[in-house]
Amino acid sequence: MCGIVAYIGKQTAYDIIIKGLKRLEYRGYDSAGVALHNSKSLNVYKKKGKVADLETFIDDKDISGSIGIGHTRWATHGPPNDINSHPHQSGNKDFALVHNGIIENYAVLKEELTQRGHQFLSDTDTEVLIHLIEEIYTNSKKSLTLFEAVRIALNEVIGAYAIVVINKNNPNELIAARKSSPLVVGIGEGEFFLASDATPMVEFTKNVVYLEDGEIAHLSLETGLKIKTVANQEKTPYIHELEMHLETLEKGGFDHFMLKEIYEQPQSIHDSMRGRLRSSKSMVSLGGIKDYEEKIVQAKRLIFVACGTSWHAGLVGEYLFEDLARIPVEVEYASEFRYRNPIINEDDVVIAISQSGETADTLAAIKMAKEKGATIVGICNVVGSSISRLTDCGSYTHAGPEIGVASTKAFTAQVTVLTLMALMIGKKKGTITNQRFNRLLVELESIPEKLESVLTLDSVIKKIASTYKDSSNALYLGRGINFPVALEGALKLKEISYIHAEGYPAAEMKHGPIALIDEEMPVFVIATQDTSYEKVVSNIQEVKARKGKVIAIITKGDKDVKEIADHYMEIPLTDSLLVPLLATVPFQLLSYHVAVMRECNVDQPRNLAKSVTVE
Ligand code: UD1
Ligand code: GLU
Ligand code: MG
Repeated sequence: MCGIVAYIGKQTAYDIIIKGLKRLEYRGYDSAGVALHNSKSLNVYKKKGKVADLETFIDDKDISGSIGIGHTRWATHGPPNDINSHPHQSGNKDFALVHNGIIENYAVLKEELTQRGHQFLSDTDTEVLIHLIEEIYTNSKKSLTLFEAVRIALNEVIGAYAIVVINKNNPNELIAARKSSPLVVGIGEGEFFLASDATPMVEFTKNVVYLEDGEIAHLSLETGLKIKTVANQEKTPYIHELEMHLETLEKGGFDHFMLKEIYEQPQSIHDSMRGRLRSSKSMVSLGGIKDYEEKIVQAKRLIFVACGTSWHAGLVGEYLFEDLARIPVEVEYASEFRYRNPIINEDDVVIAISQSGETADTLAAIKMAKEKGATIVGICNVVGSSISRLTDCGSYTHAGPEIGVASTKAFTAQVTVLTLMALMIGKKKGTITNQRFNRLLVELESIPEKLESVLTLDSVIKKIASTYKDSSNALYLGRGINFPVALEGALKLKEISYIHAEGYPAAEMKHGPIALIDEEMPVFVIATQDTSYEKVVSNIQEVKARKGKVIAIITKGDKDVKEIADHYMEIPLTDSLLVPLLATVPFQLLSYHVAVMRECNVDQPRNLAKSVTVE
């Protein structure tokens, strides 16, 4: 969390930084700030609130200068206010710093520095780091360069960070470093960019260097880009070419990124299958895991580690892999898994699922599993992200940038890739008949088209949303592979409309949640025609008997549920294993409309941020 943008070159740094921070607001929007150097002074402006609030605040201020750093914050240490906003400055105001992450030993460092006479203005861990850098630099009586002082300071720090430091006494350098939080360097013609992800630099350069953990970079217009490790080893920068397009970062006529991303799903699902699936040739091939295919086939167990929506994708994956590949699956919250001293063996395969590829808990979980000898497979959306680089192999979801904080197209792309993986492994293992395999390939190929027809339900869903927008609770029910869809439906509603919602396996309802049902309670049920259809119909009857309101997702042509439900949404028939790809989408639209009607900030829901790089 927290977005960082920095620039050094010939253009007005402020314009590039503000535009970049807006693209990174998905990472946090508690406050924003910049430090701009105009060869005479280092001007620091910061403000609680969004980047737009910072702009208003800066309106009449001096924004000149072609070097600067900027930050959009997701607060961890100290409430969101002007003072805790980044950049933070050294006591003598010579240096300013932006930071993403947590300095875990900040209290001890703060205590020591206070004894040495340092005075702190904010409650943040970040401010301690810039004072530590200042202390090391001034103590050396300028025998150290600022770069060296930063490097030495980082050796005393425990925790996670991406940082950029700007120096009042040298308007020609930026110093950046990373450990656990992401940082990308963009290399232009006579200019450099730095940012938490590549989106702020796409229109200026395609050449980027992803800083590795434990690396520190010196960016100068005179000496260029130099990278060292914090342990003082020189590194040669490896330049990647970006494959990102500017259009994908804009709303393209939609009111919100979330709505745009919901509507992109026929295309994004298609993109995640591109070159990987051909039903006419009976072929599924994920190039990214080919070298480890045998290892996965031989696995005694698969362990999915993930958080939030990705964890729900993992649950869908459990049904897919256990059914198609007959491999036992465990689905773990990364944060719980890593602190539990779990039993992991060399014949386990751990599959990490993360949209951003930066989720701190998931990253830490796979580091631990790797140390214990497991094979690590990644399913990430962001190319070049930390998780994708740490894994032994993996498959990108290729869904394109997801900017709305509530995940939509990333989820369906993850489920698509999991389906392809389960099919590929099941086929190789011989646990699926040719007939079933081929039928599933044909079905999977037709999902984008079927999804187009699901999207035409939009106006029906909007009406349902207006009926239930003032509810204070909601229940989501599903069975089998649609149970995770219920969980995801409930999460979407909570995240963006702030209505309390719970997802339950439909049959579990009678063991508790049924007590909540009255005429005020909307109950959303996935009642499509598959193996558990009859059972779900009985569950619906149980809700109706208690006067609950039932809103059902049904298969086109269904008659029974249509009769008993208060509202229904009809989706095309597909194989029961593929229903989640279709059934998730009406719930996304429903949450979207409810949130808009309740005047909530759909793309930036309160307290949340997208790329959760803190633990
Ligand atoms: C790759 C190319 C794709 C090209 C295709 C043609 C990339 C990103 N993808 O796709 O543009 O059309 O070849 O053959 O260049 N990886 C991980 N962990 C992860 C995700 C990926 O290690 O979490 C690795 C994979 O093992 C692979 C590489 O990253 O080595 C690219 O992955 P992916 O895009 O999924 O591979 P392909 O589908 O083969
Ligand atoms: N710990 C810093 C703060 O609270 C940065 C937070 C973050 O990166 O999420 O300001
Ligand atoms: Mg299981």
